[in-house]
Amino acid sequence: MFSYEEIQQIRNQFPMLKNNENKNIYFDNAATTQKTVQVINTIKKYSCNLNSNVNRSVHFLDKFTTNSLELNRKHMKYFINAKYREEIIFTTGTTESINLIAFCISKFLKKSDDIIISHSEHHSNIIPWQVLSQKNNANLKVIPVNSEGALNIRVFKKLMTKKTKFIAISHVTNTFGIINPINKIIKTAHKQNSLVLIDGSQAISQITIDVQNLDCDFYVFSIHKMYGPTGLGILYGKKQILDKLPPYKCGGGMIEKVTFRQTLLAGLPFKLEAGTQNMAGIIGTNKALKFLLNCSIIKVKSYETKLLKYAIKILSNINGLQIYYKNSKLTKILSFNIEKIHSFDLGKLLTNYGIAIRTGAHCAQPLMEYLKITGTIRISFAIYNTIEEIDIFYKYLIKCLELLS
Ligand code: ALA
Repeated sequence: MFSYEEIQQIRNQFPMLKNNENKNIYFDNAATTQKTVQVINTIKKYSCNLNSNVNRSVHFLDKFTTNSLELNRKHMKYFINAKYREEIIFTTGTTESINLIAFCISKFLKKSDDIIISHSEHHSNIIPWQVLSQKNNANLKVIPVNSEGALNIRVFKKLMTKKTKFIAISHVTNTFGIINPINKIIKTAHKQNSLVLIDGSQAISQITIDVQNLDCDFYVFSIHKMYGPTGLGILYGKKQILDKLPPYKCGGGMIEKVTFRQTLLAGLPFKLEAGTQNMAGIIGTNKALKFLLNCSIIKVKSYETKLLKYAIKILSNINGLQIYYKNSKLTKILSFNIEKIHSFDLGKLLTNYGIAIRTGAHCAQPLMEYLKITGTIRISFAIYNTIEEIDIFYKYLIKCLELLS
């Protein structure tokens, strides 16, 4: 576990927190995390001195960027324990990674095939599958959840049939922070020869990911949720599956030879990376990986769990407060509602005191509709948050509740 001094040292690595004269509190880390000074400086240094495209020209700047980009691909391969570097595709984020797969698998999906998602998915893991199923006349089936938002695995097993061709599920839900039983889901899916995509957006900063051990077919996440640059995502896919996919976007960088008669595509990973990459972001990502590994992902999780347990304990003192999902393995996300209080009102009042939280449906309207609520108040922690911040949050929460009552 981290000492108080260690957490202060960690906080000092984040300019946003170090220069925090107004003592603002940032509890919206499930939306995006702050970036370390090393990430920011690397991007700045690269943009000021070394900026160039990749794999296009023979000059020294292109060479530097191309080598750095491929080195970072290798680091990412080790980070999630992929087997081959070609299995790491750089995208703009989780949303693009999911859209890419939904688009590319279309040609393998027949009329009346089934795609399975769950009731607690983020919109970005619902809509691409809805569009795909409508386009292909396939069926979109939904795993139900219980009143706390946890998956009903018994029903999932019933939904699985020979017609199931694809399953897309979050590793950790962005609404309530529930860790889904993805090992079980992947094993069950593979028995029926179904492919599985795991949305790891909320897991990647807290859970050590070993894609070979998980045996998932695709694992996707965004770098901005793990202390790294914005506008960058990772799509991991098993090489033998990615090899069979058609391109998602077409353009520069993804070809061997173009004539007006025909285009010969490049191999992986380039086939799926048309256009100019987010070079500065990819180069800055290495610093985010280093930061997380230096902190130790296991220690990060146990520290954030400690924060969450503390928050649950003090929030439980409030009359009429209902916490969603506090009974199982905890992550870093805590969602709650308070009787007769609208989440937006509370969020707006708290922001006057410099407290940033997320309120509303959290891009998960089907889940909110199922639970018959308009939304929740969500606080989500990162490694730089502290018990003191939770105490201050609690103090102002009480003040806001007095104002609203
Ligand atoms: N997916 C992000 C969230 O849940 C934006 O807040």
